Amino acid sequence: MRNPLSDKVVALEPSGIRKFFDIVSEMKDAIFLGVGEPDFDTPWHIREEGIYSLERGRTFYTSNSGLMELRQEICSYLKHKIHVTYSPKEVLITVGGSEAIDIAMRAMLNPGEEVLIPQPSFVSYLPCCVMAGGKPVVIDLKEGDEFKLTKQQLLDAITDKTKLLVLPFPNNPTGAILEKQELEELAEVIIEKDIYVLSDEIYSELSYKEEGHTSIASLPGMKERTILINGFSKAFAMTGWRLGYAAGPEKILEQMTKIHQFAIMCAPTTSQYAAVEALRNGDRDVQEMRESYNQRRRFLMHTFKEMNLECFEPFGAFYAFPSIKRFGMTSEEFAERLLKEEKVAVVPGTAFGACGEGYLRISYAYSMEDLKKALGRLKKFVNRLDGKEE
Ligand SMILES: Cc1ncc(COP(=O)(O)O)c(C=O)c1O
Repeated sequence: MRNPLSDKVVALEPSGIRKFFDIVSEMKDAIFLGVGEPDFDTPWHIREEGIYSLERGRTFYTSNSGLMELRQEICSYLKHKIHVTYSPKEVLITVGGSEAIDIAMRAMLNPGEEVLIPQPSFVSYLPCCVMAGGKPVVIDLKEGDEFKLTKQQLLDAITDKTKLLVLPFPNNPTGAILEKQELEELAEVIIEKDIYVLSDEIYSELSYKEEGHTSIASLPGMKERTILINGFSKAFAMTGWRLGYAAGPEKILEQMTKIHQFAIMCAPTTSQYAAVEALRNGDRDVQEMRESYNQRRRFLMHTFKEMNLECFEPFGAFYAFPSIKRFGMTSEEFAERLLKEEKVAVVPGTAFGACGEGYLRISYAYSMEDLKKALGRLKKFVNRLDGKEE
């Protein structure tokens, strides 16, 4: 029989996170610190709005771009939060930030055009780029730079074929953020070299510095070069509602909307009504969840210090990325042994790019009770490796 498959797709590596997920689901009493989603339920008033929309019979397609009401709310939200003025025509509602990443690449890339992808970073950028016919060019971020992208790294990676830079901050898996001055340095290069930015700001609400999150789109000359990706999964604990959005130049959004129209039609209607409520009245929930994550973040950093586990301080998202280099094991070996011996599952840093070797991603989107239990087990494991008495 003829090969039914696409070589391009077969060559893609499956996500390294799933593997541990599958093992843990069959293991009794294991604690999994691997999932990248909030442990909170969606706030009740948001769920209620979704339910109410169903009761009122709002069970039809919306327009391809999404409910006008929601796009207007997103424009007000972005104006308020990042001080950039968008019109509803510059916003497209998608099935999670995931879809927005995919269709942005498909709408923008011609065969062979290069996309700069700083790693460690979210698992989907590289496969989406490949499937869109682009050429991924990985930039290895360094712990010594606090896993930030530097101006020099950007300059070194740009060629005549570079079209797009993925800017994955606040970062999954490292928790790194970029501050205004660092963004300004990058923006200078981006404008001078005439490239575009896909700025994945899905963790924008989870920034633990006083000044909060700065979007590169807010810098002079950058709105017209930025496709901003955000969504409801992380900030409003709405992963299962599958709702995100892209905001950017109308010219690009129009083409993204075509792909969205043919592949998806529109994002889920119930979720769109719930999202309007999230934006209108969800600020306090977001603040409460952020405070809770921050408390857990500090607990994690404190406990790592106690067990002499090196970890640069993450200021965004809900992940820590400790180094396990001193144990002389690969990330995968460490994670496998930790799971087998202490029943704690974490994700090897290599799941987010080869330069994640020597690190683990630990998500702290878990209850303090689970975190205390899991870190107690991790401490036992580390002490054993260090030859200390239990
Ligand atoms: C950095 C980053 N971007 C995008 C996404 C996609 O989120 P969603 O499709 O649920 O909006 C995730 C999910 O883990 C993520 O970590």
